[in-house]
Amino acid sequence: MEKLILDCDPGHDDAIAILLAAGDPRIDLLGITTVAGNHTIENVTRNALSVCTAFGIQVPVARGSERPLVIEQVIADDIHGATGLDGPYLPPASFELDPRHAVDFIIETVMTHEPKTVTLAPVGPYTNIALAVRKEPRIVERVKQVIAMGGSYTRGNITPVAEFNIYADPEAAHVVFSADWDVTMIGLDLTQHQALATPELQERVRAVGGDISQFILDTWAFVHTTHNGLLDIPYPAVHDACCVAALIDPSAFTTELADVRVELEGRWSKGQTVANFQTASGMRHFGGTASEQKDYRTKVAMTLDWDKFADLIVDCTKRLTEAKAKA
Ligand code: BDR
Ligand code: CA
Repeated sequence: MEKLILDCDPGHDDAIAILLAAGDPRIDLLGITTVAGNHTIENVTRNALSVCTAFGIQVPVARGSERPLVIEQVIADDIHGATGLDGPYLPPASFELDPRHAVDFIIETVMTHEPKTVTLAPVGPYTNIALAVRKEPRIVERVKQVIAMGGSYTRGNITPVAEFNIYADPEAAHVVFSADWDVTMIGLDLTQHQALATPELQERVRAVGGDISQFILDTWAFVHTTHNGLLDIPYPAVHDACCVAALIDPSAFTTELADVRVELEGRWSKGQTVANFQTASGMRHFGGTASEQKDYRTKVAMTLDWDKFADLIVDCTKRLTEAKAKA
C-alpha cells in the first residue's frame, strides 16, 4: 500500500480526492491536513471533517496554515461558493481535529515512518509543505515523493498564465519546486483539460446509487455552474483526485521532465510555473541550451488515460458505498 498525506483545501474536487484516497485499497491514508486556499482555514477544515463524518472516513485531520507565506490571502469563493463547498449536503462534523498543527503532523508522520515510504499530495496552496520543509529540512530526503496539483505549462485559470494553487502562495510553490526531492506537477494542462467528469462518468457514478454517489454528483453539479460559467470548460474538472490517481496507478499518466520555476515578481505573470522541458525542441534560443533552466527533475504530467481514471472514481464510489452499508 502507498502511504499518503493529503494536504488539501476542500473544495469540491478536494472532497473527491479524499474519497478516492479513502476508498482505494492501494492507498494507506495516514492523514488529511488542511490549508487555507479555496476558502478560509475555518471553512476548509470544517468541510474536511464533515466529508470524513459523512462517509465514515476515520483518519486524523490536522488544521494547517491560515494564510500564505508572503502575499495577501486570495480565496476561490467564485468557484467553490460561500462555504468553500456549496451545493451538496454535508452533516456537521462529529469528531475532533488532531491536536497538532498540520505542519507538525506532516513532519512527525514523515520522520516516524520508514524513509521513502510516505508520499505528500498537496492539492491546495503549498503553504504547509513549504513550512514543513523549512522547519524540518530532513523531510526532503525522507519522503518518497511529492505529487502536487498546481501550475500549468500552457494557460492559467486565475490569470492568463497562473493556476490558483500556485498563485495563492507562489513563494511556497517556489520552496516545493526548488527542494531536492521527487516532484510530479499535475497541472491544469491535465486536470482542467483532460480529467473531466463527462456525462458518461456521471452516469456510471449515478448507477452506483446511495449517498456517496449523490454527494459526488451534487459536487459536480455545483462546480459545473462555476467551471462552465467562469472557466468555459464543458464538464466539471476533477483536478485534485488526479494526484491520488497518479499514486494508485502511475500508468494512467505520462510525464515529461522539466525544470519548473515559479514566477514571483512578474507584473503579468506572477504565479506562473515556467516549465523548460528537457526535450525543448524549438526553444533553441530562449530555452534549451541557452537557458539557465537546466535542472530537469520535475515530472510534469502530460496525458491522462481517461478510462483508467474514470474506473478509479467509479470503483472507489462502489467500495465506499458497500463499506458504509456494512457499517
Ligand atoms: C485548483 O484550485 C482549486 O480551486 C481546486 O481545488 C484545485 O486544487 C485548481 O486550479
Ligand atoms: Ca484544491
